[in-house]
Amino acid sequence: MSTQGKLNKISVSTIRTMKRNHEKIAMLTAYDYPTALLLDQCGVEMILVGDSLGMVVLGYDSTLPVTMEDMIHHTKAVSRAVSCSMVIGDMPFLSYQCSVDQAVSNAGRFLQEAGAHGVKLEGGREYAEVVRRISMAGIPVVAHLGLTPQFVHQLGGYKVQGKEQAAAARMIEDARILEEAGAFAVVLECIPAPLAKNITETLSIPTIGIGAGPHCDGQVLVIHDLLGLYERFTPKFVKKYSTLNNNIRESVRQYMKEVKEGSFPDKDHSFS
Ligand code: KIV
Repeated sequence: MSTQGKLNKISVSTIRTMKRNHEKIAMLTAYDYPTALLLDQCGVEMILVGDSLGMVVLGYDSTLPVTMEDMIHHTKAVSRAVSCSMVIGDMPFLSYQCSVDQAVSNAGRFLQEAGAHGVKLEGGREYAEVVRRISMAGIPVVAHLGLTPQFVHQLGGYKVQGKEQAAAARMIEDARILEEAGAFAVVLECIPAPLAKNITETLSIPTIGIGAGPHCDGQVLVIHDLLGLYERFTPKFVKKYSTLNNNIRESVRQYMKEVKEGSFPDKDHSFS
C-alpha cells in the first residue's frame, strides 16, 4: 500500500516517506511463489528473501550453508509473484565478506538475475565500504545489526546483543556509519528495546526490528514462525498468529484415512 492506502509499487522513497510520516513498515520473509503472492496481496511493504530459508525451508541447523545459488533460485520465485512489495534479497555467508568487488557483483545478481529491488547484509562498520560500493552501483541496501546469525560462532550463540553500555554505544555508532555509507534501512535483531528506540531516534533511515521492541519504524518476522510452521525452535520475540502445522497434519491424516477406506476420490472428484 502507498502512504494513502492505494495499491502502488513500494520503493526506497516510499519507505523513507513512511519513516517521515511515522507510518509503521511491515516486512515479512517469503521464499516461494505462493507465499509471496499472498504477502503482496496483503500489501506487505517489504518481502525479505532471508537466508533464514536455510533453516526453515532447507532444514539446516544454521544459515551458514546457504549459497548464492540457493538465494537466487528462491528470490526468482518470489519476484515472479510480486507486483507491489519491495523484494529484498539477503546476501548469504561469504557472498560479501571476501572482497568488495565480489560483494558488488553478487548484490547485482539479486537485481539482474532474480528481480529483487534491493539486498540486505549483516555486519557493522567493518562492512561500511561494502555498503557504500553496493549503494554506489545503484543497489538499495538494508543493513543488519544486533544478532547477526552469520556471525553466530563469534557471538557465541543466538543471544540478545548490545546489553552492555559499550556494546550499545558501538551499535549506535555502527548504525550511523552504515547510514552514512548509503544504507536505506537497517534491521535490528534481538537487542534491548531502549537501545532500538535510541537508534531509531538517531537515524534518519528506518529501523526494522525483530526482537527489538515496539519503537522501531517497522517490524519483520520469519513467515514460518508467524504461521506456526517451524517447530524446532521458537524465540521469545516470535508471535505465532496461526498454528498451520496442526492444520496441515489434520488435513493429511484425513486424506490418508479417506484414501485407505476408499472414500476418496468420490463421485464429485471423478470423471464419469
Ligand atoms: O534471514 C532472515 O530471515 C533475516 C530476518 C530474520 C531479519 O535476516
